Amino acid sequence: MEELLAGLKATAEITRLRILFALSHGEMNVTELTHVLQQSQPRVSRHLKLMADSGLIARHKEGNWVLFRLREEGKGGALARALVDMLTGRDKLLSDDLGRLETIQAQRQKQASTYFAANAAHWQKLRSLHVQEQAVEESLLSMLGPATYDLVIDLGTGTGRILELLAGSSAVAWGIDQSRDMLNVARANLEKVGLKNAQVRQADIYALPFADASADLISIHQVLHYLDDPQRALLEARRILKAGGKMIIVDFAPHELEELRSEHAHRRLGISAEQMAGFLARAGLGLKEHRVLPPPWLKTGTGLTVSLWLAELPIYQTQSNALPKALIQ
Ligand SMILES: C[S@@+](CC[C@H](N)C(=O)[O-])C[C@H]1O[C@@H](n2cnc3c(N)ncnc32)[C@H](O)[C@@H]1O
Repeated sequence: MEELLAGLKATAEITRLRILFALSHGEMNVTELTHVLQQSQPRVSRHLKLMADSGLIARHKEGNWVLFRLREEGKGGALARALVDMLTGRDKLLSDDLGRLETIQAQRQKQASTYFAANAAHWQKLRSLHVQEQAVEESLLSMLGPATYDLVIDLGTGTGRILELLAGSSAVAWGIDQSRDMLNVARANLEKVGLKNAQVRQADIYALPFADASADLISIHQVLHYLDDPQRALLEARRILKAGGKMIIVDFAPHELEELRSEHAHRRLGISAEQMAGFLARAGLGLKEHRVLPPPWLKTGTGLTVSLWLAELPIYQTQSNALPKALIQ
């Protein structure tokens, strides 16, 4: 009773309901919320503190940013979700908030697209700036073992390096990316190495052009830290994964290189083991293995730790008996 009452008191206010509505569209920092709500930062911060103390929302510090999201656990989390379900964008205040929120999301998207358009040609060099690529690729392959797959899908394939790596153990391999410029480089690379079973398509990671339960293996290599909502991306990836299918995710461990945000369009400064455990659990995926590769020694002193997660969709999770008809529209 007490916990529920505290949650109800903390939401019985118009700005706080608007905050819940905004956060139901993904994690946001205070500056972004201030813009959506058109209120001063101290005021928004006061509301956020009260709501976090009441267990409705969670806060997560990353470099210079503090990110807020709806809490998933506990009575507070359940209450936040229930309230959000009752809020509709038809309300004038909420629909105005939604408009500003979509503008922010579009700006972020544009920033990332511009970055990848500008850097597609020398991406190969950029991707090795902070990590030992060869060690990462060897670990990825050894975690997957000698298995072969009917259909592999590489999400956020960029210039297609991971697609190239996995195509050998797959009958058919697709790479998906939203950047045309990256995909142009990927097509040229695939042609150069003569891979006939691998293709790429432009698509959004949040709305994949594949049927439910169609992929045997999904790879997501150095992509989640660019996304607004990694959880939503993993839910969508899980949708297209067959029961018993595997997902391999590679990303940076938490770090403090703020310049990766300002100069390289990163949204998140790495992903912790705890965050990933939550993402996977909420997507109904079981963690099979987690490996951590220490940073390489670099003259610049900016080597980053890389995390690799291998997950599996348990057979009992899917009711779908869809045939493996992957089907790009
Ligand atoms: C850092 S690159 C990684 C590319 C590749 N996986 C690699 O390791 O070289 C991230 C890629 O994710 C793509 N990306 C970002 N957001 C996306 C989205 N919403 N849908 C599809 N691709 C996206 C970018 O265009 C970019 O090519």
